Order: sequence, then C-alpha cells, then structure tokens
Amino acid sequence: MDCCFPCLGARKKRKTPARPEKPQIPPAADNKAKPGCSSSSTSAAAAARQDSLSEAKKEFVLSNGSEHRHIAAQTFTFRELAAATNGFRADCLLGEGGFGRVYKGYLESINQVVAIKQLDRNGLQGNREFLVEVLMLSLLHHPHLVNLIGYCADGDQRLLVYEYMPLGSLEDHLHDPSPDKPRLDWNTRMKIAAGAAKGLEHLHDKTNPPVIYRDLKCSNILLGEGYHPKLSDFGLAKLGPVGDKTHVSTRVMGTYGYCAPEYAMTGQLTLKSDVYSYGVVLLEIITGRRAIDNTRAAGEQNLVAWVSCRFVFCYVPFCFFLLFFFIPL
Ligand SMILES: Nc1ncnc2c1ncn2[C@@H]1O[C@H](COP(=O)(O)OP(=O)(O)OP(=O)(O)O)[C@@H](O)[C@H]1O
Ligand SMILES: [Mg+2]
Repeated sequence: MDCCFPCLGARKKRKTPARPEKPQIPPAADNKAKPGCSSSSTSAAAAARQDSLSEAKKEFVLSNGSEHRHIAAQTFTFRELAAATNGFRADCLLGEGGFGRVYKGYLESINQVVAIKQLDRNGLQGNREFLVEVLMLSLLHHPHLVNLIGYCADGDQRLLVYEYMPLGSLEDHLHDPSPDKPRLDWNTRMKIAAGAAKGLEHLHDKTNPPVIYRDLKCSNILLGEGYHPKLSDFGLAKLGPVGDKTHVSTRVMGTYGYCAPEYAMTGQLTLKSDVYSYGVVLLEIITGRRAIDNTRAAGEQNLVAWVSCRFVFCYVPFCFFLLFFFIPL
C-alpha cells in the first residue's frame, strides 16, 4: 500500500498537504443529514465548506473561463446510487483509497455498469478535490483518461460515478497478483506504459492551459478490456503555468515515492513533476517492485534510490569495462 507524501507511512493512502494553503474543509461526519435529502444545515461548518467550494470553483473559472459551458457530467440522487450498489453492499466493494470506498454498481437509468466512489466523510480528502475532479473530468476527454459519468452532491453526500474499468488498476496486477490475474507479459506492460504516456501527453501538450496531474501512480492507472489503460483521479490536478511562467507555486501534495524531489522541496510545480512520477511508474512496470516497499531491506525500500544505486555501481563500471577493452587506444 502506498503511503502518501509527505507524512511518511503515517496513514494508508492519504494525500496530505505539507502546509495548508487554505483553511481545511471541516469533515462532514458531524453533519447528520439523511441520505437522499438536501441539506438544510446552516451551521458554520456547512458555510465554511460552501465557501471553500466556491473558492475552488472561482479559481477554476478564473483560470479557465469556459467552465460552465463544458460540464457534461450528469447528476444522480443518493437514492439512485444506493439502489445501484444494493445499498453499498460489501460484495460490491471494488477498493478503497484516500477519498473513500469504490463500489461496482448498475445504473438502470442509463443501463450501464459503473464504478461509484463515495467520499469518506471522516477522510482528509474532501469537497475541494471532489469539485476539482468533477470540473477537470468534465472538461477533459480522451481515450486514455477515465470517463466521469456523473456525480451526486445530495446534502453532505459526495459521490463520483465513473465508467467501470473491468480489469481494475495497474497496481492490482503488478503488486497484488491473484490466481484470476495472470502475470502481465512484457508487451502488455509496454502497452500500458504507452497508453498512460498518451493520457499524460494529452494533459500536458494538447490541453490549453496545460493540466498538471500530480497523482500519477500505479493505482491511478485503470485497465479496461484488453488492458487498455486510462488515467483516473484528478482531484489533485492543477492548471499549469502559462505565458512566461515556468511553474505554479502550490502546497506539496501527492503520494510519497512518486513526488518529484524538487517539487517536494520547493512547492514549485511544473509539468516535469508529472514526468518524474511517470518515470517511477515505468520503473515499477519494468522491475515489478513497488515505488516504496517497507517490507524490503534498508537500501531497497525506495525504488528510485535502489535503481540509481544499481546504475552507479553496476552499469557505470560496466561501461568503463567496455570502453577499456573494446575501444582501441
Ligand atoms: N472506475 C473504476 N473501475 C473499476 N475499479 C475502480 C475504478 N475506480 C477505482 N477502482 C478500484 O478502486 C480502487 C481504489 O481506488 P481509489 O482511486 O479510490 O484509490 P487509490 O487510487 O488506490 O488511492 P488514492 O486515493 O491514493 O488515489 C482502485 O485501486 C481500483 O481497484
Ligand atoms: Mg485512485
């Protein structure tokens, strides 16, 4: 399981800011609005949450003035989504991340099998990421980006409805093998790497202004039929620098092991921060090792450090050896 930057191993799959940039959204757990009902809460917490939402929205509108025209995602009621997952029954559970649990469901209204992600109201990730995810995925469409079908924001409930990806995540296949998941062959690995790169290329080079993903990792590469990869989870995405600017300054967010060191140290985010994370994913695909693996011996726990070390101690001497013996003086 990943531990998330920068709190080394502190909690499972939590993306935590190093220092809060804006006041944190209070957890919604204390608001006991009934599922399916609109919130009538006028509490300070609700007001603060609302402020935070409109702030995030305003920021997005300022950076990308076409927000309203492009929102294509449908809205669903909590009742519909509960029915789709048989009341969020345990046997519909697909997995769990920092945002909350993900369930498989069937939506009668659109006659489609879907994946429904329910915000954990005690979790650290919240409304802001929910809104960014809805806005980003409503604007971004590409064969290698997961499709957001809709969302639910009934009362305190926050749910996201995605296309269902039948083969799960790359992480499941690389690091949690099971009898029903055959080992990935080399061609499939390369196909997944190439597809993820195309998704990233779309965000960086085809989208204007460019989008910095900030959360590239194996668990966010979902696999469709034939191992067709799609990037998912855009809650941390940021609009990239425009004009003469080389970076955007932001609080440090992401997953430990995937976060580019210069971004972690300075908070200066560039498109290259995603390229670093992509490199880590590529190393995982090639070696089959996790980016961070605390079960391994010291010195082997951090994949990048381990690979760098091997590169220096094995490949560099090997190159000198070749030079010495095969290049005539
Ligand atoms: N659209 C989907 N279709 C099928 N399975 C999905 C889908 N979205 C998520 N899952 C499953 O649910 C699991 C949890 O996903 P989620 O994005 O919530 O967490 P994560 O990516 O593992 O961690 P994090 O929250 O740190 O990004 C995934 O690993 C995957 O197996
Ligand atoms: Mg994810």
